[in-house]
Amino acid sequence: MQSININGLRLKNRISMAPMYTKYASESGEVTDKLIEYFVRRAKSEVGLIILENTCIEWEQGRIYGNPVAIHDDRFLPGLNELVKSVHRYGAKIIPEIHHVGRQVFSDNLNGKPPLAPSAVRSEVGGDMPKAMSEEEILETIEAFADAALRAKKAGFDGVELHGAHGYLIQEFISPLTNRREDKWGGSFKNRCRFAVEIIRKIRQKVGRDFPLFFRLSAEEASKGGLSLEEGLKYAKVLEAEGVDCLDVTHGNYESLKHFPMQGDPFDQLLYLSEAVKKEVEIPVIAVGSLGIKPEIAENAVREGKADLVNFGRELLADPDLAKKIKNDKLEEIRTCLRCNECTGSIDTGKYLACAVNPELGYEYKNLMKKTQSPKSIVVVGAGPAGLKYSITASKLGHKVTILEKNDYIGGLVKAASIPEYKNVEFSGLLNYYSTMIKRLGINLNLSTEATAEKIDEYAPDIVVLAVGSKAVKLPVKGSEYLEIAVEKLLDNGKGLGEDICVIGGSGVGLDTAMFLREKNKNVKILEMKDSIAEELSPMLSTHLRKVVKDNKIEVLSSHLVKEIKEGSVVLEHQGQEKEIVCDNALSAVGFQQIKTAAMKKELLDSGYMIYSLEVGAGCGHIMDATRNGFWSALELDENL
Ligand SMILES: Cc1cc2nc3c(=O)[nH]c(=O)nc-3n(C[C@H](O)[C@H](O)[C@H](O)COP(=O)(O)O)c2cc1C
Ligand code: SF4
Repeated sequence: MQSININGLRLKNRISMAPMYTKYASESGEVTDKLIEYFVRRAKSEVGLIILENTCIEWEQGRIYGNPVAIHDDRFLPGLNELVKSVHRYGAKIIPEIHHVGRQVFSDNLNGKPPLAPSAVRSEVGGDMPKAMSEEEILETIEAFADAALRAKKAGFDGVELHGAHGYLIQEFISPLTNRREDKWGGSFKNRCRFAVEIIRKIRQKVGRDFPLFFRLSAEEASKGGLSLEEGLKYAKVLEAEGVDCLDVTHGNYESLKHFPMQGDPFDQLLYLSEAVKKEVEIPVIAVGSLGIKPEIAENAVREGKADLVNFGRELLADPDLAKKIKNDKLEEIRTCLRCNECTGSIDTGKYLACAVNPELGYEYKNLMKKTQSPKSIVVVGAGPAGLKYSITASKLGHKVTILEKNDYIGGLVKAASIPEYKNVEFSGLLNYYSTMIKRLGINLNLSTEATAEKIDEYAPDIVVLAVGSKAVKLPVKGSEYLEIAVEKLLDNGKGLGEDICVIGGSGVGLDTAMFLREKNKNVKILEMKDSIAEELSPMLSTHLRKVVKDNKIEVLSSHLVKEIKEGSVVLEHQGQEKEIVCDNALSAVGFQQIKTAAMKKELLDSGYMIYSLEVGAGCGHIMDATRNGFWSALELDENL
């Protein structure tokens, strides 16, 4: 993709890294090595522009929960400058996204103070009742934004982006949903624009006309009573007229939650927004929303004039080399983002940003992938996500790896997850990545191969790694002989199933099976003993999938305990009442347990092999745990020898 010039800022290509909160800053917001190396890794791999996460302009009442990067004081300049210099070394540009959280925060994050907002309207999804800002607080906040922009300039950043999206303070002023003021800061469209306009003017006073100013806006809010697309487009024109140099267009807030397209959503879900904004303004426009999963969509968006740049977010967490792979036309090597939102789940539950398929995320500063000094020959038994991650990592470290897999396919549960159409692109993308890496690294893959001691002897390995994974358990209930295993039915394409199916268990596999059967037009009920389904998934994905299930007319019977399976029916108990549901098939999707390896271990130990076992215990059946386990175990290989 060609270079582009934005108010004097020359970007080498059209790929920018979307702002993403990492929690990699220190507790009080200082830049850390962890943060720097995370960005350097992406800068080295051909990202044109990096947009730093929601960067705090006011610590007391303006910061998002946790520890965002801070820019509210000059004492942060040295760290910020170090970050800028490090990224510049690799030809990428970097701007911070300056941010005030507004009402989407709880008071306990603000030392007991109330959140600030234009009006006292509480967020339905996360935040205490805010205090309506006084005129003085509004003016102070405008000043704080402008001071932060000036600090960004002093730190050497290539520009600055205002976070005017996702339901945070700046958006709260433009939105009629959250701005109920009757003074000059609310009411008419012009008055609701005033806060953003005054911030832009103040910034221009402090940084001059030449410093590139980006603005991230949710062009449409999609909440009842919120900003309509029509007003969003008018707003975009106002921002341009006030001297914004580039519009970074996104969607919604944390109530509408469409700004993270997830499994089942179209891969160009938000493109209509940048396209609409581009028709209204002359300045460059950035698009976002899963655009790196099928890179041809991103390329076409730019080619067809629907956007000038594309923001890649989660796709660059899953694969830091994405931009380089696109540039070098190595699409088969891309480690596909699963749109599972374990990443947002990890920061929302107080942890560092982490990724289900990229366990190296956040550890770039440790430079872990050093070649071994003592290469070994390794046989890995099992080609599920743990075994594959182990094999790929060990091979990259310089070991010679052979995989023995009893099935005629790789991926284990990843393969099963790739079968329903609604998430096929993500999971088959990951399977393709595994296959490509196996070939590229020269890993010796043996499918349909039982790992007997005799077989293993053929390779005379120094070490045998057991990564046999987990197996689905059957619900232990009266009549369980009539039950079939859901994941097995997924894998055999639903062979022999009738029209009316009960899936017992509303976990990930239960949902996948139900979705797969709906795709085949079967009538499906999910029977779940808990109050809700999808509980073990990341919070955002589970909220999303509950809706997907509903939209697909899958009936969910929660708080229903299965008492008995009969031939042609399931007996349930709900609130003390028994009921019987007639169905052609009852499928069990109630979880997994580690496959027992004691006998195999004994046989191999008796044959004199060194054994290492990748058992994940409670996390079995979970791709993030399996992948982490494979990765870290391979790194510890030298220590274990
Ligand atoms: C872990 C995570 C943190 C995020 N933090 C921010 C943020 O600080 N500021 C922001 O404007 N958007 C944030 N986003 C939204 C992304 O910038 C992006 O709009 C969204 O992930 C959709 O793009 P994608 O499909 O390419 O991931 C975050 C997204 C993720 C996944
Ligand atoms: S955790 Fe899931 S959604 Fe997030 S970047 Fe990784 S694969 Fe993508």
